[in-house]
Amino acid sequence: MAKALYPGTFDPVTLGHIDLIERALHLFDEVTVAIATSESKTPVFTLEERIDHIQTIFEGNKRIKVIGFTGLVVDLAKEEESKILIRGLRAVSDFEYEFQMANMNRAMSPDLESVFLTPKAKFSFLSSTLVREIASMGGEISSFVDPIIEEALKKRFKV
Ligand code: COA
Repeated sequence: MAKALYPGTFDPVTLGHIDLIERALHLFDEVTVAIATSESKTPVFTLEERIDHIQTIFEGNKRIKVIGFTGLVVDLAKEEESKILIRGLRAVSDFEYEFQMANMNRAMSPDLESVFLTPKAKFSFLSSTLVREIASMGGEISSFVDPIIEEALKKRFKV
């Protein structure tokens, strides 16, 4: 069975991330969405909330597993027995960082392969930070996130 690991902070998960997860499901039997605690990013949503958001969006889909993690992604991949790491490339500007990370992960774990997928062009400018900023100022975010996330952001920012 081909298993892939898709790591990220997902604060919050956007339609761009969802697009990528759906693409990964066309290629792999099982996709594990691995949510990093990412304390240095001081997330708006707790790890438990971020896990719950993605679990709710993909409820009933037995090919998707959602977990939280701290520590190195290469260690998690070993624990999860996954040899594939999924990463998204939205634009050329993502490339340098992703290239660096893929090569660093390869240096630590030569058997782990990074696979890059591109989201639909309409999501190529999306980022969780921008979505949070727009939501915090009462802006319209329905075309960027699932209704569950829209609701959660409205509650969090009391808008
Ligand atoms: N659609 C929309 N947005 C997307 C996207 C897509 N398809 N792909 C990425 N993004 C956004 C993310 O939401 C994020 O936005 P933000 O910075 O505004 O929050 C931004 O692009 C950067 O995403 P990403 O590079 O995936 O960062 P991340 O914080 O989500 O994930 C980890 C980075 C967690 C995968 C990485 O830090 C990691 O592996 N950490 C574990 C520790 C480790 O192993 N370190 C050594 C690595 S060599």
